[in-house]
Amino acid sequence: MRESKKWNWFFFTLSLFFTWILTFSWGYSQTYVSGKVITADKMVVASGAVALEKGELHNNAFRAGGKINPDGTFKIPLPSGGPWGLHVYSEKYLYFPLQIQIAEASDNEIPVILPVDGNTDDDPRISNIRFSKMSDQTFRITLQVDDANDNLGPQMLAIDTKRFKSYRLRPKAGDLQDKKNAFPTGEYVSPLIPVALDGEDLRDWLFAVADHQCSNGAIYNGQGQSAFKPPIPHTEKLICAVPGIWKSNFGKVYKFSQTAPGTLNGEQFEGNLIIDKMEQKATKIFLDYRYKEEKGKAELQLLCQENNVILKGTFSLPERSGEWIFTKLKNAKVAPMGKDLFAANCSVCHYSDRKDYKVGPGLLELFKNPKLPYSELPPSEKVLRAQIINGSENMPPFKHLKTEQVSAIIDYLKTL
Ligand code: HEC
Repeated sequence: MRESKKWNWFFFTLSLFFTWILTFSWGYSQTYVSGKVITADKMVVASGAVALEKGELHNNAFRAGGKINPDGTFKIPLPSGGPWGLHVYSEKYLYFPLQIQIAEASDNEIPVILPVDGNTDDDPRISNIRFSKMSDQTFRITLQVDDANDNLGPQMLAIDTKRFKSYRLRPKAGDLQDKKNAFPTGEYVSPLIPVALDGEDLRDWLFAVADHQCSNGAIYNGQGQSAFKPPIPHTEKLICAVPGIWKSNFGKVYKFSQTAPGTLNGEQFEGNLIIDKMEQKATKIFLDYRYKEEKGKAELQLLCQENNVILKGTFSLPERSGEWIFTKLKNAKVAPMGKDLFAANCSVCHYSDRKDYKVGPGLLELFKNPKLPYSELPPSEKVLRAQIINGSENMPPFKHLKTEQVSAIIDYLKTL
């Protein structure tokens, strides 16, 4: 009797130990790709599908996938880091292929901006989606694809949004060797899918097809219903600051991030412009860059008007110059630094998610109110910086914080 009790305890402790290992080791090492899908006409899509190829873009090695949530976001766990090809599909917008580099064991946020599909009449069409049970643990999917202008591409995709997987369907008559050719209309079949069909909710499956001009038609679920939800206006309050996601008047997307006070890092997505140096003095931005091996310079001015935040100025290259305008689409993801510094230094006395007093006033919506809670001054970086560094009657000074740490806290306060 006593012996068996001992064994019970032993197994109980052992199971606790394994639960602990699983939660911690998995929880901390998962690799994700995530983002929010906004559009060139300033909307946020509310439906759609995401599929990922392992390795180079357009190698058709589809492995992972998921859905776009009603708030435009997606978050997909990936089995490994390294290069992946990202494809994002949402009805009424052109589909978006992007070569991305994924860092292991972290959440990789990728900006996605979909161009408007000006002509939806020639979009490919899916019909007659069927699931056929092949064994207790496998099934196959077939569907019909039609296309008005006969320029289908190789992406006929089935996406398992529950297990975050994607599968490419092939023409029933056999796959094409040259994936750049127009694919035939007609019946397409999936590989053998290692999932039990019994008990599967077919609404967890999404189907998207694209043509060579990046048009994708309606996206359907496994019950043959359209997954479409109308896009919603993009209402993120844009901070009057350079870090964030921007779109240029040449249709290119950039990510600007702060590296130190006055210095920024600029990155162009999908293009051949490399930013070597980016500096900020007050509201002026100075850029040194290379475009197709030519060296260029630019001077831009940060201009903010309600929710319209732009950078406007001129670029110059050896042979030409012109106007360069960037429109801000998205704020930078707040560096965890600001949040962590707040938790370490301020949260003992201030709530970040409430307005009532703890020891000092709650700081929820601090920058969204016309007046600060105590001094009743209008909120500004300058006043905040002074408050943090010098403190006040009942608030200690934080003179030991570095300039960029104070900036990080202020950036974080702006998001509350
Ligand atoms: C020991 C408690 C305490 C700590 C720690 C503290 N504060 Fe305060 N804070 C207060 C009090 C109390 C007030 C109200 C003013 C007063 O009585 O001095 C205040 C006021 C403020 C205000 C309102 C200013 C205004 O003009 O209305 C802001 C903003 C603020 N604190 C931010 C911060 C930040 C950011 C940190 C962390 C770097 C921080 N506080 C740390 C106690 C604290």
